[in-house]
Amino acid sequence: MKRIGMLTSGGDCQALNATMRGVVKGLCTCFKDIEIYGFLEGYKGLIYGNYKKLSAEDFSGIITRGGTILGSSRTPFKELDNPTPDGLDKVKSMKETYKKLKLDCLVVLGGNGSQKTANRLSEEGLNVVGCPKTIDNDIWGTDMTFGFQSAVDIATECIDCIHTTAASHNRIFIVEVMGHKVGWITLHAGIASGADVILIPEIPYDIKKVWKALEHRSKQGKGFSILAVAEGAISKEVAKLPKKERKAAIAEAAAKYPSVAYELVDKLKKFTDADIRVTVPGHTQRGGSPVPYDRVISSLFGAKAAELIKDENYGQLVVMKNNEVTSIPLAESAGKLKYVSPDDSIVKNAKMLGISFGDE
Ligand code: F6P
Repeated sequence: MKRIGMLTSGGDCQALNATMRGVVKGLCTCFKDIEIYGFLEGYKGLIYGNYKKLSAEDFSGIITRGGTILGSSRTPFKELDNPTPDGLDKVKSMKETYKKLKLDCLVVLGGNGSQKTANRLSEEGLNVVGCPKTIDNDIWGTDMTFGFQSAVDIATECIDCIHTTAASHNRIFIVEVMGHKVGWITLHAGIASGADVILIPEIPYDIKKVWKALEHRSKQGKGFSILAVAEGAISKEVAKLPKKERKAAIAEAAAKYPSVAYELVDKLKKFTDADIRVTVPGHTQRGGSPVPYDRVISSLFGAKAAELIKDENYGQLVVMKNNEVTSIPLAESAGKLKYVSPDDSIVKNAKMLGISFGDE
């Protein structure tokens, strides 16, 4: 008999259910008897002992379903050692729930912060296996996270739709894509949809260079332009400020504008009286069914998690490396983000396509 706990933590994404289905199918292949405890709303469920005992049947028919059947919430890693509002020691409570249910392993479907917590629980002596979830694709150590391709698909479709209307009306459109710290979704969706300008947090922009790219298009007789902008895009002036001043400048802009796209409109208005519109697909990027690619990798990730449990190879994060599903120690990935580098070939080749990053 194997007793496995499972939880989905942090911002949701497509293919969380598909991954859990993969884990359970894999466990059913490896073990004759399993008991599955699904913790509700992420780590909160583990802290408060709020769980559902589930059967393999509960994971049937959910490969296409978005969201998570367990619910999710954020339990920030930096607040892990602060007690809950009602005074519970979070780590202690999680360990107690794990021990009370006599779990053999806890499977954590989560992004960076959640895997950091998974690593902490592993260091505290629990058997933990992580599966790399996030639309942002920013987990260090894996080439791909589940959710990313589905989000790229939605952002791309959004920009495609904007393309036709922008062309009809000769407008400049800014499409704001998710990604506060990293620009992977914007980069991929921007290239896929033929955006003219891509602005991401890792490559701070100079507004004069952004305008130069738009002016160049207009001089070529192009009546419209599309900017794909990550929600964390940042100007060169702000990026070079010391940390405290930078945070203050970002907070000041956040108080003045609904989001970064509107700040850009304001800045571009100093150069042109052209019609500039904003579209923000927002959380639609995390919603709906996973695309087939995400269904495939999440199922394989789930199967790998089951194999790690069978081999009692705990403290591991399932990853994709060079097209192979494998695993690395949770500790190797914890606390690091996978950023876009301005030197990545994807950026260099996008520039060859004439896409401006507003930096040169
Ligand atoms: O981490 C996933 C993500 O969707 C980011 O791309 C985005 O910045 C953030 O979560 C939004 O978080 P929330 O749903 O808490 O607003």
